[in-house]
Amino acid sequence: MIGEIYEVDDIGLAFEPTAKPVPAEERARLLADPGFGRVFTDHMAFIEYDEKEGWHDARITARHPFTMDPASPVLHYAQEIFEGLKAYRRPDGAAALFRPEANARRFAKSAVRMAMPPLPVDMFLDSVRGLVRADREWIPATEDGSLYLRPFMIANGSFLGVRPSTQFIYAVIASSVGAYFKGNTPSVSLWVTREYVRAAPGGTGEAKCGGNYAGSLAAQAEAIRNGCDQVVFLDAIERRWVEELGGMNIFFVFDDGSIQTPPLAGTILHGVTRDSLLTLARNMGLMVREEPYSIEQWKSDAESGRLTEAFACGTAAVVTPIGSVKGVDGGFTIGGQSSGPLTLRLRSALVDIQRGDAPDPYGWTEIV
Ligand code: COI
Repeated sequence: MIGEIYEVDDIGLAFEPTAKPVPAEERARLLADPGFGRVFTDHMAFIEYDEKEGWHDARITARHPFTMDPASPVLHYAQEIFEGLKAYRRPDGAAALFRPEANARRFAKSAVRMAMPPLPVDMFLDSVRGLVRADREWIPATEDGSLYLRPFMIANGSFLGVRPSTQFIYAVIASSVGAYFKGNTPSVSLWVTREYVRAAPGGTGEAKCGGNYAGSLAAQAEAIRNGCDQVVFLDAIERRWVEELGGMNIFFVFDDGSIQTPPLAGTILHGVTRDSLLTLARNMGLMVREEPYSIEQWKSDAESGRLTEAFACGTAAVVTPIGSVKGVDGGFTIGGQSSGPLTLRLRSALVDIQRGDAPDPYGWTEIV
């Protein structure tokens, strides 16, 4: 199946409820201030793959540790991919997934790039739906709260040869989350790394694979050492075009009301939030450009006032204003270093659809 994307209608997802659910009072305590990625739910989705049986034994089961052979290829050669999507609690108590099909398709593309068997789109959808149904009580009711779903696939088996595995595990875990960036600052600060690049043409930059994130950590540590919240990567060839942050895409806002984001030219993640914001902005009548933007231009536009706002976006980060940018050759600030009006407008348009506070003319949300 490697290299093909196929779909099935009915995956026969079994449900084995946990024998030891977290008591309701303990869950309520955890949900009051969950942070990001620290609080996990009772269940997980789990599907296995081998060459003989293909994808099999799909189930929602109690969240549990994996037992793996120490020679499992994921542990040595990082044959791994993942996704991130959210389910929101609606005003009427229903749970809604945001654009799960977009994640399912990107997951299948990442699999092809990493020589893994693409999970059928319907299996992906049924697994996240099944998990949300099982753990809907874990969606926080707080303002920034949601259930962050983390589908992932790892190469399993026992061999050390460098070749694609023939055994895989696909699983989905869920985490009750609040805002990704904590702290009271109204914007985040960025560090422009000159030493490291995230992705080169022909590499894996477009795939959502763990290796891209592992490779970003030294640069992210450099950002933290320099007092910044996030690293921003430049392109690998000319080292001047802004690409993306450690874990999110980037947008620029100009004084003529236009917005710009780097184009998807093979090294940048096809962000679902990025795509949703582009659609919302176009439908608001804004002028939208998907064009390269250089670090020198960014600095000069911020200093002249031509650039009025900038923001990071992603499933985890949602829409987060960028207030300042720093690098070895100095720094600059952006606008009033807080959420500018267009950033706020785009954020509200997105979040209102996700949370069911506004109609969804795009069919992006799915009640589960
Ligand atoms: C996401 O926004 O879902 C991401 O994958 C970013 C990060 C948490 C890894």
